[in-house]
Amino acid sequence: MRVLHVAAEVYPLVKTGGLADVVAALPPALARQGADVRLLLPGLPAVLEAVQHQRSVIDIGCCFGALRVRLLLARMPGSQLPVYVVDAPYLYSRGGGPYQDAQGEEWPDNLQRFALLGWVAAHLAGGDADLQWQPQVVHAHDWHAAMACAFIADHAGTEAASVYTVHNLAFQGLFPMHDWPLLGLASRLMSPAGLEFHGQLSFMKAGLKFADRVTTVSPNYAREIATHEFGFGLDGVIRARESDVRGILNGIDDEVWNPARDGAIAAPYDAERLQGKQACRRALQAELGLQPDDDALLLVVVSRLTGQKGLDLLVAALPELLAQGVQVAVQGTGEPALEAAFRIAHQAHPGRLHVHIGYDEARAHRLIAGADAIAVPSRFEPCGLTQMYGLRYGTLPIVRRVGGLADTVREAAAAEGGNGFVFDAATPAALAQAVQRALQLKRGAAAEWLARMRLGMGESLGWQGPARQYLALYADALARRRHEPAA
Ligand code: ADP
Ligand code: GLC
Repeated sequence: MRVLHVAAEVYPLVKTGGLADVVAALPPALARQGADVRLLLPGLPAVLEAVQHQRSVIDIGCCFGALRVRLLLARMPGSQLPVYVVDAPYLYSRGGGPYQDAQGEEWPDNLQRFALLGWVAAHLAGGDADLQWQPQVVHAHDWHAAMACAFIADHAGTEAASVYTVHNLAFQGLFPMHDWPLLGLASRLMSPAGLEFHGQLSFMKAGLKFADRVTTVSPNYAREIATHEFGFGLDGVIRARESDVRGILNGIDDEVWNPARDGAIAAPYDAERLQGKQACRRALQAELGLQPDDDALLLVVVSRLTGQKGLDLLVAALPELLAQGVQVAVQGTGEPALEAAFRIAHQAHPGRLHVHIGYDEARAHRLIAGADAIAVPSRFEPCGLTQMYGLRYGTLPIVRRVGGLADTVREAAAAEGGNGFVFDAATPAALAQAVQRALQLKRGAAAEWLARMRLGMGESLGWQGPARQYLALYADALARRRHEPAA
């Protein structure tokens, strides 16, 4: 089966969140199960610098406001997976992030930047971009790639099926309706049955409406997005496609996240040899200037600092928790108010709290390896990866019962499958109580704590299972496409 994955980010080239981790690990996992998989990425500077053995496939010329657009074929560093890169310097060759400038403002030409990505995907699917290779399935990730589904649906001759994965319904790719002509799509798609969303143009809807199959990144989030509470205004659209929507839980890359072979941490360890974990804990306390306290519950956070992640709850609970014997280390970037709140708290509690406002992969590994517990108190969480990194590293997750967090973390005795701590209310008190339960267990029932650690460390969290589910879904999407050819 020939499958093209279309995305805006891929670890370690370009990463703003878990999407990049998924796009780095799922395609190679599919390839290991026999699929012929390629990637399609925008030619951001970091992508063009990193991909290897580049050659030009086709000169596309002038489109979406860019004068010179070329399609390159190269290899991913590491996995050596074939990767198509859309080289359009006018749209992609700039500093800042993939979606925003250095000041955090959305790029004003995001419509053109990501319409181009989807349009090239549709041409690969249609067979006229690369005469040597044509995908049978196009798998588009998040709104950045969603236009692929609309362009494919708008081209009668295309046989390829499309699959659209929602990684986060909160980011929808909304643009002014007056930009519609820039897309070059049939006007019948310019309605609420197409891309129109309350007077705006929605890239997210291009995926939700026109993909043959829609997936999201956990079974629980698949149920949640069909509700008013989590649907971000699109729950009706999602309910209308109920039989086509599936939740497939993300895996984690168990090569990148493996405490037995992690070059970034102070000492390797696994479930049978846990001395290394103790060494990592001491090294982390020393690195962060935390008191070398063996009794403390060392709780970490590695996260974007945004409303989604519920870290304002942690800010509010901090004084109580620190007074009770919890040490906290936070690493993240995001909303200025939340960054400032953590910075101020850091100054008030030296030795018990450490805050690093910044993005650092190796440091994230040291934090997760050295901690006793990791907090993910999200208001909503499509899947969440850091709680799974925690499980793998014997660092018990303390999570809110939402989205993929509810699918991966269970609070119970180890004998009943317990691997962490779970709370319901999005309040500082509910979070604090969950952390207190963790503190009591660690201090009062060390053997049970160890049993829960070992249980988490032994779980199969890799991509093998999810990759199998995606392959079945692709087969299903293709069968559907054969029965109901595109309009
Ligand atoms: P989301 O994609 O919503 O941000 P996920 O849990 O799926 O949440 O993925 C977040 C990813 O980004 C993880 O790989 C996590 O380790 C990483 N990450 C987030 N913030 C930081 C940071 N400040 N430094 C290093 N890694 C980070
Ligand atoms: C999104 C979600 C996160 C998920 C990630 C990868 O960024 O916020 O929950 O783990 O995508 O699918």
